[in-house]
Amino acid sequence: MNLHQLMQMHAHDEKIAMLTAYDATFAALADRAGVDSLLIGDSLGMVCQGQSSTLSVTLQEMAYHTQCVVKGVQSAQNKAWIVADMPFGSYQVSKEQAIQSATVLLQAGAHMVKLEGGGWTNEVVQFLTERGVLVCGHLGLTPQTVHALGGYKVQAREDRAAQLLLKQAQELEQAGAHLLVLEMVPKDLSHQVTQALTQCATIGIGAGNMTSGQVLVMHDMLGAGIGKMPKFVRNFLKDHDGVEEAMRAYVRAVKDRTFPDNELHAW
Ligand code: KIV
Repeated sequence: MNLHQLMQMHAHDEKIAMLTAYDATFAALADRAGVDSLLIGDSLGMVCQGQSSTLSVTLQEMAYHTQCVVKGVQSAQNKAWIVADMPFGSYQVSKEQAIQSATVLLQAGAHMVKLEGGGWTNEVVQFLTERGVLVCGHLGLTPQTVHALGGYKVQAREDRAAQLLLKQAQELEQAGAHLLVLEMVPKDLSHQVTQALTQCATIGIGAGNMTSGQVLVMHDMLGAGIGKMPKFVRNFLKDHDGVEEAMRAYVRAVKDRTFPDNELHAW
């Protein structure tokens, strides 16, 4: 998988199936199952480290898990596009800090880095992309600002907030972002954003099925998440024989648009 292929998928409305991964074994299984992209999410703070948020994850931890995932992908089909999260505090200080942090993740083997937020991030994204660093944005529910948002809840329900999100998405595209995660936003809004972008594919999570692709936290789609599961999560292991088969079913369901079920989408 390369950037050109991802953009072609977006242009031809072929859905992109992304999963999070944190270690070599599960990354290899996901790659064999045909997942288009793997995200080393800072959600590892919660699912691997047992923290209550992503805020404590460090750049060194992200680099370590990225190396593990890269090894796993290389030992399998070596196909998945690898995106690594820039953790909280690794890009907020300055553009120079951002490129230093991105360098660590690219040297660990990531193809692209992801950072959260709109508006103030435009400058950072432009600085990175002008220097050849591929960037994925993240709008809607941005877990690194969970305290400011007042919890893990649906974003941009009101018209003004929806208009702002659309504007921020367009600005991120102009700044050079090629992927954009839309988390926990109304399905009509994520559809509108997806239609408004040509050079940037959208990846939804809890955002309906009209985005260019989908992402789920791997533990959640394997029914291994602890705590209350959001409504949009489906347990793919329940009806399948083993982890690789469950992942294959996820890829199929994303591609044939049966996941997520728009009728069940609650916002
Ligand atoms: O950290 C993460 O896993 C993420 C996804 C939920 C999109 O950002």
